[in-house]
Amino acid sequence: MGTAPKASTTKVDQFFTVAEARFDRWRQLLQVARKWEGASSWQSSEKETQQAATSAAFQELRQWEDFFAYPGEQLLKALGDRISSGDATGTAHLAQSISTALLTHSYRTNLADWEGEEQAAPKFADRLPGAGEGAQHRPYFEVLVASPAQSAKWMDLAQELRKLRRPQDKFIYEPVFVGNFEDAILGAILNGSVEAVVIYEGIPFGSSHYSPVLHEFLTAHLAANNVDKNSEQYALLLAQGLKQLRPELDIYFLSDREPEKLAGDVRGACIRRIFYQVEEPLDLHLSILDGIADRYSTPYFDNLQKYSQRPIGTFHALPVARGKSIFKSNWIRDMGQFYGLNLFLAESSATTGGLDSLLEPTGNIKDAQQKAARAFGADHVFFVTNGTSTSNKMVEQALLAPGDIMLVDRNCHKSHHYGAVIAGAFPLYVEAYPLTQYSMYGAVPLRTIKKALLDLKEEGKLDRARLLVLTNCTFDGHIYNVERVMEECLAIKPDLIFLWDEAWFGFARWSPFYRRRTAMGAAALLEAKFKDPVYRQAYKEQEKRLGANPSNKTILDTGLLADPDKVRLRVYQTNSTHKSMSCLRQGSMVLVKDPDYHTVEEQFHEAVFTHASTSPNLQIIASLDVARRQMELEGYELVNRAIQLALDVRREVNSHPLVSKYFRVLGADEMIPAEFRNSGFVDYLTPGMNWAKAVKAFREDEFALDVTRLTLVCGSAGFDGTQFKNMLAADYDIQLNKTSRNSVLLQTNINNTRSDIAQLIKVLVEISQDIEKKIVVGGSSVREAFDKRVKTLMTDVPNLPNFTSFSDRFRENPSSITSEGDMRSAFFGAYREKQCEHLKLFSEEIDKRLKDGPPLVSANFVIPYPPGFPIMVPGQIIDSETIEFMRKLDVKEIHGYNAALGLKLLNPTFLKSAKPQSDRIPSGEKTAKRKTAAAD
Ligand SMILES: Cc1ncc(COP(=O)(O)O)c(C=O)c1O
Repeated sequence: MGTAPKASTTKVDQFFTVAEARFDRWRQLLQVARKWEGASSWQSSEKETQQAATSAAFQELRQWEDFFAYPGEQLLKALGDRISSGDATGTAHLAQSISTALLTHSYRTNLADWEGEEQAAPKFADRLPGAGEGAQHRPYFEVLVASPAQSAKWMDLAQELRKLRRPQDKFIYEPVFVGNFEDAILGAILNGSVEAVVIYEGIPFGSSHYSPVLHEFLTAHLAANNVDKNSEQYALLLAQGLKQLRPELDIYFLSDREPEKLAGDVRGACIRRIFYQVEEPLDLHLSILDGIADRYSTPYFDNLQKYSQRPIGTFHALPVARGKSIFKSNWIRDMGQFYGLNLFLAESSATTGGLDSLLEPTGNIKDAQQKAARAFGADHVFFVTNGTSTSNKMVEQALLAPGDIMLVDRNCHKSHHYGAVIAGAFPLYVEAYPLTQYSMYGAVPLRTIKKALLDLKEEGKLDRARLLVLTNCTFDGHIYNVERVMEECLAIKPDLIFLWDEAWFGFARWSPFYRRRTAMGAAALLEAKFKDPVYRQAYKEQEKRLGANPSNKTILDTGLLADPDKVRLRVYQTNSTHKSMSCLRQGSMVLVKDPDYHTVEEQFHEAVFTHASTSPNLQIIASLDVARRQMELEGYELVNRAIQLALDVRREVNSHPLVSKYFRVLGADEMIPAEFRNSGFVDYLTPGMNWAKAVKAFREDEFALDVTRLTLVCGSAGFDGTQFKNMLAADYDIQLNKTSRNSVLLQTNINNTRSDIAQLIKVLVEISQDIEKKIVVGGSSVREAFDKRVKTLMTDVPNLPNFTSFSDRFRENPSSITSEGDMRSAFFGAYREKQCEHLKLFSEEIDKRLKDGPPLVSANFVIPYPPGFPIMVPGQIIDSETIEFMRKLDVKEIHGYNAALGLKLLNPTFLKSAKPQSDRIPSGEKTAKRKTAAAD
């Protein structure tokens, strides 16, 4: 960690290090400049060496600095002049002031930073008007200007734009000039402060930067986005390319020919405004500010702030609203002091006064949701204030009717299992591949999903398969190839609906690397594909090749294209905004991208009414709004940093001579079997791995690993996951995510800093030293006990039990090759005591029943933490493997299991009794029935 990257090595992490590596390069320059300064009084040869080193460090960083407004051409020139003139002290001072300004971001508000440390140059006085002391904070950003003008003219252009600044502007920006297509792409990649791009028509293609690192970024990006280098319209191509890279950017186009033509061109849809170059630039300036204001505006939060300042008298519920019961209290005043007045002023149980209603939004909540939809690339967004546990149940209730089949990863979050119970849908569990050694599951192979669909087809039940539910990414970081899963499933069932549970993955939208593997990113790619005549042609060729009735084997072995004329691309996503963005706990969103949404809209509202509290927390709604604002304005930079920090942890742990003896962060090769990594990708930090290969793997491989989810193996240090988690919390104030038998899950997010990472590494070093000491002091007996413990944790691991099947009582056709079942009947069957029995886990009766029957059938969900997935669901037949797993479990928290009573089972008498009438709605009638019900 912390060394400046060399231009000759193009490792994967360099893409994400952009911001941090920049600081490192400046720190590196400062270090050598100080050495040079110190050497001034020594021999001249040493001075020369240090001057040369300073000059080299400056050259190294110089090429990158063209893409940032600060420190800018003049300060860089001043620095270069000082180095070449042999002014060591002046160099060190200036390098110091620039790097401090960069690190603290003070240049965004402090005029003096732009002037260098000792210049009082009046020429800069107009640069940041109103940014001095006492002025109201104006967020600062940068505007990338891609202009074919001579670079000598850029200064004039910049000056012209600065002259347009007015005291009433809410934001302040500095332009950054680039002269061609490639540099503009690099600028958008490297500079996270860029919020808007102005493109002049007539820019050339080729970059003026020849660094291998920069070049590799470009090549990989251009290849990933099929950029046609022979195009004549680079300006338009650039607009499109930038939108793919960072969809949140506002793009302005300055045309010198016929702007009206471009305005009517569908390819120009990604451009916010088109101007005729020769016209007044004030409009451009105002448009730039307006674009930022649009993203900055948080309709609900803004209104809530206004509301809180009004002298409102409440004759309503919620005594804490306005805070009088708290601030006047003799006994609970500390609550007010702790939370502050605003929290209570911003509380209300009313939906009047412009506060809008979450259940039936028509005002600012509606506006806030629409902005979120734009930001996430969805058609509609619903804010949810009870977590994704509720969002999932809402979507499932809305889309599924009794008897519908829901294909679902058994290892998914419990809300989906409950969602199936609520909807009365029959879950058809598809199994993820096991990672037995770490007592966890991976993700569900596409082949397994296709096979389940084909089996349903064979059984004549495909029309009932309505929804596929998958977790992306999984708790442990497995990311699906979302595009391929949807494309191939739609090839088998063109109207299958998808629910991607992206509880952990909401942030991924703001990484160009991850976006294509999110529900909305993949849906956008597929939407474009299905409209593309080339795709239609390819589909026709596939039809010819496969014939009218391809065998199941052929279908399973073929990477299928879907029929673009038949598909209905219906995609839903849920995300725990609170898990990965700046949102209060329980803030969650449902994203909808569904051309047939109108057919389910009524039931969607019903589902919202069913699950949403009628007293939603206003602060959660406001924070959902604000989280969206943040991600649209700085998500790109923040997410890159979170990824970078995770790569730092991986590298430091796995290469530290002491820590790596006891701990290891699992790489992609250990989390994803080779058969799902066709590109040959091994891991992000494997020697020889470069950015282009990582991008290729992300495009092609069946599964990828989310870098930010770090499985740290601690069994090799003699700790089980829970023990290690508790120790870190109790002794080192470090909190982490979930645990497994021999690992813990760490996670970086947009909140982490390099100091957090340093603290973690320091703690791991201390723990490793402690282990070493104990072993050395304790001698062979301690060593043996340690080895034995490690073996138990790492080698003697229980097999993970697969889903068995539902009891025949809950299957429509027990001889069906598909295993879906009526879980709701089983679930409610357990509500009558006389229909249940309890058997102690370690009793002989259990073994006898396993051997001779009647079968053991679970009455409820049994979910041990860890691993956190149900090893039994209501109505499931329990086999010996599941019992063995339960018996070996050494965790204390097992939901649905009371050791004193034993396993709760549905008793054989009930299981033999006659089945109740099915309440399933025959397929095809669902929408009609619901519509009638709604009309009633
Ligand atoms: C995959 C998945 N989905 C949904 C949830 C539920 O989210 P929330 O905690 O926001 O209710 C979780 C929680 O851990 C989860 O891991």
